[in-house]
Amino acid sequence: MCGIIGYTGEKTATPILINGLKSLEYRGYDSAGIALLENKKFSVIKSKGELKNLIKKTEKENSVSSVGIGHTRWATHGKPDETNAHPHTSSDEMFTVVHNGIIENASVIKKELEKKGFSFASETDTEVIPQLLSYHYDGNISSTMQKAFSSFDGSFAVAFLCRDFPDTIFAARRQSPLIIGRGENESVVASDTCALSENIQEFTCLEDDEFAIIEKGKIEIFSSGLKPINKKFRKIESVAEKHDKCGFEHFMLKEIFEQPEKIKNLLKGKIRNKKVFIDEIAELSLEIIKAEKIYIVGCGSAYHAALAGKFAIEELCGVPVEVDIASEFRYRNPPVKENTPVIVISQSGETADSVAALRLANSKGAFVIGIVNVPGSTIANESDYVIATKAGREVAVATTKGYITQVMALYLFALHIADIRKTIPDRAIEIYTEELCRIPDKISEILSDTSVVENLAEKYYNKNDIFFIGRNTDFAAASEASLKLKEISYINCSAFPAGELKHGTIALIDKGTPVVALCANERLFKKTLSNIEEVVSRGGEILCVTRKNKIISEKYLSIEIPNCSDLFVPILEIIPMQLFSYFIAKKKGCNIDMPKNLAKSVTVE
Ligand code: M6R
Repeated sequence: MCGIIGYTGEKTATPILINGLKSLEYRGYDSAGIALLENKKFSVIKSKGELKNLIKKTEKENSVSSVGIGHTRWATHGKPDETNAHPHTSSDEMFTVVHNGIIENASVIKKELEKKGFSFASETDTEVIPQLLSYHYDGNISSTMQKAFSSFDGSFAVAFLCRDFPDTIFAARRQSPLIIGRGENESVVASDTCALSENIQEFTCLEDDEFAIIEKGKIEIFSSGLKPINKKFRKIESVAEKHDKCGFEHFMLKEIFEQPEKIKNLLKGKIRNKKVFIDEIAELSLEIIKAEKIYIVGCGSAYHAALAGKFAIEELCGVPVEVDIASEFRYRNPPVKENTPVIVISQSGETADSVAALRLANSKGAFVIGIVNVPGSTIANESDYVIATKAGREVAVATTKGYITQVMALYLFALHIADIRKTIPDRAIEIYTEELCRIPDKISEILSDTSVVENLAEKYYNKNDIFFIGRNTDFAAASEASLKLKEISYINCSAFPAGELKHGTIALIDKGTPVVALCANERLFKKTLSNIEEVVSRGGEILCVTRKNKIISEKYLSIEIPNCSDLFVPILEIIPMQLFSYFIAKKKGCNIDMPKNLAKSVTVE
């Protein structure tokens, strides 16, 4: 993870770097730092914690330097303190570096350099980069880069300054994203286009093992063999979405309330003659549509979206779906046959494990369909076809609108394929399609009164452990509900298929143990009810998420959701659960939009 930025031009660099870092804070916020180059000297300012701490420090400085680099960190090696914050500088102060990724052989390189007399100040893997550059440096910067970067295993997006080149930023990349933007008399390097300043008109992406020499408005790119590469630059088309809470107290709440609109957005243009038709996959060959198996991979909430999608695809398309966590898929050599559809789901499109899963699938000849929110991201670029989820920029680390649009995209995919495979009658497709079109209104209905959930937060915010149970589609929602609550409130939460409790976990149920039972799936309602009774008879305290007017028992607390087909239950159940997490975290005084230890885009494995 981590976000990096660099600027060289004619303006004062500090405010540009800080603005860039603000946009990149979603990538990590354990510490932040900048380095400026002025009069052949570096001035490095670092700070522990969120960016606001660094901003305070920089306000006291009045450097007018017009070249610098910046970093916002998600710690991998070494605790999140000021010493380990980037930039890291070589002992001879010739190089200063910001890095996103992991140098896997850092300890070996460090030992070698220590033997040669180098001493290290931090616990990071990154520090070997400036030190190794300094070790190889003989005045020829290109060959120095080539020697240093060919020694590293692992992943890196790096921007660095060299004292001998007062107006220049150098960059290198392997596996971690890095883009370079060009304007009139200024250039920017960054982890993401959202960090480019407004005067940058065009950008290009650095590819694996390429180097760049970046000067004011002039960019040279080389292969690892130092051959110049003529890269295509793309115009920056749209101004980044407004980074504004629009009156909401947190981005997470704002994004929860955006969900009906985002789903409408996604549905737009996809309903024809009462059926679903997705243009982005209009050209899928029959071989792929009629495949005997479909894989879906993703991480975190994207994996939970896949769980929800599996039920819809299996039921509507009559094809087995294997759902996998990307970090497992990538290392288990799955027997994916040629032309088998592999759906890779990712909000950011940059999650390292999901990118690796995609590449593995590609290498096996699979047909990759990306379900991605961020256009131009690695997964969007490397998939054979992309279904864009159109959720817009998601700022809160805990995904809400990102997740829900993934689930909706999978439902739409299921109906599109079912129609071509003719696995269910036309009339059934029409009924399901009509139902999907009503989902935004049903979500709005849930959001129209949040008081029940807010009051419940009062009762739950001081619990240490909360269990979530559900069967089938309810379990998919329970998994996401549990992750949502734990990541922003730090309460220990876990989700189980309701029928699985008795195989061990029920041993943990005691008097007063809170159990949230998702039981809106009508077909399995009675089965889940039996599991609820088993919990209650052991003293567990139940909170049900159930269909409107479904009387379970006066004894249990409950949250109601509007009626819908069992298949689509997760998309509605998750709304009150997002609010439940939000209000609990708020009551606990947690940092809701930037929970501890997390980052929005997980670009390390
Ligand atoms: O960007 P991606 O969808 O690939 O991200 C996957 C997970 O890291 C992400 O869903 C994560 O679990 C969220 N923080 C959950 O709210």
